[in-house]
Amino acid sequence: MSKQTVKVPDIGTDEPAEVTEVLVSEGDSVEVEQSIIVLETDKASVEVPSSHGGKVVSVLVKEGDQLKTGAAIIEVQSEAEVQTDEEAPVPAEQGQPSAGAKDATADYESPSAEHREEKREEGKREATEAPKEINVPVPDIGDVGDVEVIEISVAVGDQVEEGDTLLVLESDKASMEIPSPASGKVLKLLVGEGDKVKQGQQIAVLQSAGAAVAEKAPEGKPETKRTEKPVSPPEQRPTTTPVQQTQAAAAQPGELPPAVEAGDGSLHAGPAVRRLARQLGVDLGKVKPTGPRKRYTKEDVRNYVNKVIARGGAGTGIPQVPAVDFAEFGEINRVKMSKIKRSTAANMHRAWLNVPHVSQFDDADITELESFRKEKKAEAEKRGVKLTPLPFIFKACALALKAEPSFNVSLDPDGEHIIEKHYINIGMAVDTPAGLMVPVIRDVDKKDIWQLAEETVALATKARDGKLLPKDMQGGCFSISSLGAIGGQGFTPVVNTPEVGILGVSKAAIKPFWDGKAFVPHTFLPLSLSYDHRAVNGADAGRFLTHLVKTLSSETSDDALVLRGHA
Ligand code: COA
Repeated sequence: MSKQTVKVPDIGTDEPAEVTEVLVSEGDSVEVEQSIIVLETDKASVEVPSSHGGKVVSVLVKEGDQLKTGAAIIEVQSEAEVQTDEEAPVPAEQGQPSAGAKDATADYESPSAEHREEKREEGKREATEAPKEINVPVPDIGDVGDVEVIEISVAVGDQVEEGDTLLVLESDKASMEIPSPASGKVLKLLVGEGDKVKQGQQIAVLQSAGAAVAEKAPEGKPETKRTEKPVSPPEQRPTTTPVQQTQAAAAQPGELPPAVEAGDGSLHAGPAVRRLARQLGVDLGKVKPTGPRKRYTKEDVRNYVNKVIARGGAGTGIPQVPAVDFAEFGEINRVKMSKIKRSTAANMHRAWLNVPHVSQFDDADITELESFRKEKKAEAEKRGVKLTPLPFIFKACALALKAEPSFNVSLDPDGEHIIEKHYINIGMAVDTPAGLMVPVIRDVDKKDIWQLAEETVALATKARDGKLLPKDMQGGCFSISSLGAIGGQGFTPVVNTPEVGILGVSKAAIKPFWDGKAFVPHTFLPLSLSYDHRAVNGADAGRFLTHLVKTLSSETSDDALVLRGHA
């Protein structure tokens, strides 16, 4: 019998995703493609299918764990497969850059606390039994070529735990912390800051923990677990015990965590974290770092923003909303919001505070377009698609973005440049039980009504089934929020920043239209356009909306013909 490890497939993001549900237990039988866990990122919840069938022999994760692509989830035993050494989930051999190194790295990134503890215990046992020197190579860091060492996080002689950051590498796009593959003492550092390194290159030599402890373990000194190190600057250290520090670090209700500096007074954050902090307007000095060696993680920045929001806009100069005990006035339920709903709330608040919104309104006379759509019903049935007004609105928006390129832009995060986009990707707000999601249809200008009809239904279904991947929700230029099937005469949608704008679509209604001689019934579609007034001005938005309305209302304009597939 062979054991297979089921790992997190490519979830399309480098960010860790939270395990919100574990759907299998040890002893269960699973089939290939059966969902085994549910992962939730800021934007989507994804059911992860099993890549192997068989009996679950171990579940390596639990709810609340943060997993990245490649992290091990369960081990499955299959009688049908013949065991081979290659298939067995052996850890990468120390000092040997190999395919296994990738798996080992994935494990460091996202093991459950218990699993990590087990591995540490194992490491300690091994170390006590047979102290040895361990060569540490750069693990599989993906296809990025030479990357620069931007930080050496340890010094020769330091004691490190397995998983502690040894050094930080930075490529054009990302910074990567290289974790220690074992616990022990740093004997040699073979690279320095500013050096370029590549996968497989030796970077350090460790002495395994047993040997190091035997050599030097001053009495009373705790093992150098990062969590037990004082977090305050050196001169303040002696007065606080680890327990006191934990209490001090925990924010009082309604209070933000204190600023913490690295020992040398600098703030340890990679470029991606710094960029995120800049984008969110967060002063890193006010954020408490939780990464190894007091490094900031993106999660630290997001948690800080969430705390600020929970406090009602502290630091923004906005007066706090007084807390109300709703239970005083009647029976209530206090329900925990899903991660997606919390993220939506944070994103909306961020967009609302950062983006100067202007909304503009118009009605498109879709009388003729509705007749055209109804004529196409038979063909739609034959093709097995539902043809609602939505695909026409998507296509008309793409044509308007093409005709008015000054509207197909975003404001650069530096606030000093405009990004002009030569592609047209449009997001679609979808209401799902887990919360609001905005999957993106790519290259809308290159697709016809039938393709758009299929894709809107496919993406909405994927969203409702919790199957959207983060990449399905990235790259939008503009969004559409349609409440047309629900009702209402108009609303002011919030821009899905950094997109330029969002179109709110309300319910089409038959209204009297004066044709010069008499009132005749026409069908009007109410549209509202909210836009980022930093990126575009009212004239750009006015031209865009006017073009859109004309395309939907006209029978004969060039774009009206394209919309009907006649051009
Ligand atoms: N005016 C009048 N009727 C409309 C309409 C409009 N603007 N838009 C759709 N309809 C009709 C459709 O034609 C369909 O009628 P039919 O069944 O008689 O053909 C009916 O309403 C239902 O349409 P629906 O199935 O919802 O399809 P859709 O293509 O309009 O919308 C989604 C697809 C995914 C956008 C939609 O299902 C959804 O999730 N909407 C909610 C969006 C949301 O939450 N927005 C809030 C953002 S803040």
